[in-house]
Amino acid sequence: MTDRPTSGRTVPRETARSGERPSAEKVREAVSDAAASAGAGVLGAGEVLYPGGDEGMTPIAEEAARAARVLHPEDHRLPRPSERRVITVANQKGGVGKTTSAVNLAAALALHGARVLLIDLDPQGNASTALGVDHRSGTPSVYEVLLGEMTIDEAAAVCERSPDLLCVPATIDLAGSEIELVSMMNRESRLKNALTTEALDRLDVDYVLIDCPPSLGLLTLNAMVAAPEILIPIQCEYYALEGLSQLLNNIALVQSHLNPRLHVSTILLTMYDGRTKLADQVTSEVRTHFGEVVLRTVIPRSVKVSEAPGFGQTVLTYDPGSRGAMSYLDAAREVAARSGVRRQTEGAETAR
Ligand SMILES: Nc1ncnc2c1ncn2[C@@H]1O[C@H](COP(=O)(O)OP(=O)(O)O)[C@@H](O)[C@H]1O
Ligand SMILES: [Mg+2]
Repeated sequence: MTDRPTSGRTVPRETARSGERPSAEKVREAVSDAAASAGAGVLGAGEVLYPGGDEGMTPIAEEAARAARVLHPEDHRLPRPSERRVITVANQKGGVGKTTSAVNLAAALALHGARVLLIDLDPQGNASTALGVDHRSGTPSVYEVLLGEMTIDEAAAVCERSPDLLCVPATIDLAGSEIELVSMMNRESRLKNALTTEALDRLDVDYVLIDCPPSLGLLTLNAMVAAPEILIPIQCEYYALEGLSQLLNNIALVQSHLNPRLHVSTILLTMYDGRTKLADQVTSEVRTHFGEVVLRTVIPRSVKVSEAPGFGQTVLTYDPGSRGAMSYLDAAREVAARSGVRRQTEGAETAR
């Protein structure tokens, strides 16, 4: 990032730290000031300014080089984990990039040699939409799995564009399940009980990714009980750290009462906008708090990433030459390389 002069109204680092709640108006003003002083509109369209790149190339050559890396997996295969990994993608804040990250990481892992199951646990069914999987009411889905009417492999559908990517969709039927589950036996471990070794062996998957709804209700609790790993996407914006302590407290509670293996294995910074100082402030704030759990790769804010689900695609197939596709591939590579991180970080983050 170049150090551009900023106006006096840019959000000061101290304010972002102290947790004071400035009015929405002030935040908007500060954010647009920061962007204006960097010579850009906050919500301006177009590819983001993501640091790094293929030096000395024209933009078209750069894009072609990225597309080749994304689309030719034989040259860039990712290691398969020695053991199956179950990763819950959670953050009770909405719109932070949970679904986008779950879908694109799953697609990147699947494109590069792993077999991946994505479980859509959000009644909105955004992950199912993004993967182009049917999720009309009545379709075999995670709802039937939670009710115990179907096994996870019976409810899994193969994604048309990626034979190694499977998805258990969420239908609108899931919307009432938070209430239905309350009176059920083992209401918080129904997903865990469904993720049997036999069923997952039948699917022959290396990774299970669970996309959570934006709440800390029973569905998210089921996901936290079912997985040893949590991946938290954090949006590079002003309120990024707000609500995070509540999430970490919940994780600690689940860890001590229901799932001792639960730990935050990964934090992924999303929607990074290099044109704002704010994004850099949030990035360094999060890295200071969480250290090596934070992936080095940061996902840029990119129009291509947000357009892809509208075409029932991930950004990897929708625009493989985009920086969004490349960054999700890089993030997936880091996730794949992290199979050994668990022992070092276990308990450290959840103890906060
Ligand atoms: N890197 C990105 N660049 C631009 N838009 C993004 C990016 N990541 C997510 N979005 C958009 O932001 C919105 C919220 O993302 P989503 O993944 O659905 O969040 P969540 O699942 O946490 O609610 C969606 O419209 C999505 O397309
Ligand atoms: Mg979502």
